[in-house]
Amino acid sequence: MQNSIFLDTLKGEKTSRPPVWFMRQAGRVLPSYLELRAKHSFWQMMSDPGLAAKVTLLPVYDLGVDAAILFSDILVIPYAMGMGLDFTDHGPKFDRPLKNFKNPMTELHPDPDKLQYIYRAIDEIVTTRPENTPLIGFAGAPLTVLCYMLEGLSNKSGFPDAISFIYKNKSITEKLIEAITDLTIEYAMQQIAHGIDSFQLFETHGGLLPFDFYKSMFFPSIKKISRVVRNKSIPFIYFPKDIGTGFRHITPDICDFVSVDWQTPVTEARKLVHPDVGLQGNLDPRLLFADQAVIEKELAKYIEFGQKEYKWIFNLGHGFIPGIPFENAKYIADWVKTTNWNR
Ligand code: CP3
Repeated sequence: MQNSIFLDTLKGEKTSRPPVWFMRQAGRVLPSYLELRAKHSFWQMMSDPGLAAKVTLLPVYDLGVDAAILFSDILVIPYAMGMGLDFTDHGPKFDRPLKNFKNPMTELHPDPDKLQYIYRAIDEIVTTRPENTPLIGFAGAPLTVLCYMLEGLSNKSGFPDAISFIYKNKSITEKLIEAITDLTIEYAMQQIAHGIDSFQLFETHGGLLPFDFYKSMFFPSIKKISRVVRNKSIPFIYFPKDIGTGFRHITPDICDFVSVDWQTPVTEARKLVHPDVGLQGNLDPRLLFADQAVIEKELAKYIEFGQKEYKWIFNLGHGFIPGIPFENAKYIADWVKTTNWNR
């Protein structure tokens, strides 16, 4: 792709402003999405290549973001491993949570063909997207995916059964991590073969374990996924939410860019993260419920940072939340694009 501020920034090139996109930019705040969602279930929207491609590109047209992210979900990996998955009004739910089984490995039957519909969506996006619109592919990182598989549902109080399972069953956990990693690698390779331009790994629940334990148990898998993606010259973004001082251990063997949650100021993250790794983030999405004058004050705090820091992509510290006014999301994208960054 010749002309993309997002890809240029990922390559470490100096651009006139930071690129901007938002986690969960498609399926939350856009009136155009909500209109479609009223007519189709989430599964329908993600499994119909035409609909998935359309939804993927909505934020490019409606918000003017600098990249599109594939419209899918991190839980398609457990689904392709044979776990019955339902997206209910209370979040995702699996028929048979793995915590109930003595040997959960016997419950898993990975079938990469179950992911084929996603590659057809990528084909459709690549042929219908506006010129110079990079496509971000993604997957969930192993701890986050494993938490849902073990617990069986999205648990707001921190996946207690999943975490105690991990502590109690180290060798079974290692086998589960390996199975998730293998299928995720196959999935990432296929996304690349079908035309994604960069890849993000979401470790949304990275803060659930003490960092040292997380690092020893999960970093080998992160590095493996990162290596195969980057061997194909696809930039790799890693989002380890809530790892705090763990940012000190984010080195170039882990990722090209790291996405920072709202807890750690970008200026602090810059001091902790290895200087060759770029940053993404990190506005608190809940700020978008406030008035634009309040939002602008928070945005202004990024100007000094963004003047000097070229290896930075503007984003949120986590995804959009339902109910955020579309006008405020648009205001932020416009602000990033029209501010004089004095570079
Ligand atoms: O802009 C986009 O929406 C891009 C596509 C996308 C979805 N999920 C669609 C989705 C992406 C990148 C994800 C990632 C994802 N999914 C993560 C990691 C990032 C994060 O925000 O933490 C996680 C942990 C999940 C698991 C998941 N999927 C949960 C917990 C839920 C229910 C709660 C919620 O946020 O709605 C989902 C469902 C889901 N995934 C929806 C969408 C649009 C809502 C489905 C609906 O309309 O009912």
